Amino acid sequence: MRGFYGKALTAAAALVLSTSLVKAADVEVLHWWTSGGEAAALNVLKDNLAGAGTGWLDMPVAGGGGEAAMTTLRARVTAGNPPTAVQMLGFDIQDWAKEGALADLTATATAEGWDKVVPTALQAFSTYDGKWVAAPVNVHSTNWIWINKAALDAAGGKAPETWEELVAMLDAMKANGITPLAHGGQAWQDATVFDAVVLSLGADFYKAAMIDLDPAALGGETMVEAFNRMATLRSYVDDNFSGRDWNLASAMVINGEAGMQMMGDWAKGEFLKAGKVPGTDFVCIRFPGTQGMVTFNSDQFAMFNQTDPAMQEAQVAMAKAIMDPVFQSAFNVVKGSVPARTDVPDTDFDDCGKKGMKDLAEANTNGMLFGSMAHGHAAPAAVKNALYDVVTAHFNGEYDAATAATELAAAVEAAK
Ligand code: BGC
Repeated sequence: MRGFYGKALTAAAALVLSTSLVKAADVEVLHWWTSGGEAAALNVLKDNLAGAGTGWLDMPVAGGGGEAAMTTLRARVTAGNPPTAVQMLGFDIQDWAKEGALADLTATATAEGWDKVVPTALQAFSTYDGKWVAAPVNVHSTNWIWINKAALDAAGGKAPETWEELVAMLDAMKANGITPLAHGGQAWQDATVFDAVVLSLGADFYKAAMIDLDPAALGGETMVEAFNRMATLRSYVDDNFSGRDWNLASAMVINGEAGMQMMGDWAKGEFLKAGKVPGTDFVCIRFPGTQGMVTFNSDQFAMFNQTDPAMQEAQVAMAKAIMDPVFQSAFNVVKGSVPARTDVPDTDFDDCGKKGMKDLAEANTNGMLFGSMAHGHAAPAAVKNALYDVVTAHFNGEYDAATAATELAAAVEAAK
């Protein structure tokens, strides 16, 4: 191709081409990292790319969990104008790969030995049909609780380890005049809490219901109990929770207006951004009953097919920059997540980050690592969205627990 252009182009056309080559070296990145903590982490990525000579064209689509971003992505691809690189979760990567929309990163992955350092559970989403189609930037997990330290101390000081102790602590916080549970009433946030609640009823139950989509587990007695627990949690949320963004719920815990938030470890990014220190200002615990277990999600960057060689080069540069071990440490320290490579030391991480890395490794070894349903790593989007609808309807009082379990089994079955 280059030889052809070299011979056939007029000087003017060559100028246009070279200008477009310069522009093409920028990567347009579609993502949903718009909160304070997320933006801080994004800047680490932008700076890293700039250092590698790659420019950044920002395409943010606000909305935690990425549903809105995925809608925008679909519109862009349909219009024949896909972004260069896209933040993506689990099954969405697989769906786009199946459509043949993603660039093949295998040559880079092989040259850089990604298969030796990326955990198998992540590779299951980064590869399709034996080819690398995405570069994982982190591992998040959803079964965390973030507690304001002063509120914890005022409520007795001992972090809850069982469901009963959790409820007792929520009661104590209520008695102390604060909102016990900071929550944002958005479907994906309800579903994030649901991940942890289902897991708290047993690893086998989580696997049967969320991964295997077993109708008996989805509609059975244990699921009724899961919905009962959701209703209990709902009773500790303030009146203004509806529609609240997750980072505003984090802010309530940060400023002591609320006692705790049940949220993935991106919440830690908000605490850090506010200058808060784990162990001093806030405490991170696994949702009671889920110690030793991890529901994970991994942000990965998928590259959409491009014909322009300069664009392709920029994609490879971005993928390499993402997989750089030094960057993986720097980025995840800020983001609240842990590295997507097993060879990154935990030296620079705070206590919650160190715990996150240790938990992940242990859960992986012990068969206690499961994909997060709420964040696209347990089932494809159609199933996930069906679950969102039922969980949210129940959380908002439309169904009692028994009806919700029945509806869940039916909705998942129909979406499969
Ligand atoms: C992503 C995180 C993000 C969170 C809230 C999750 O789905 O994996 O990176 O911070 O949504 O926006």
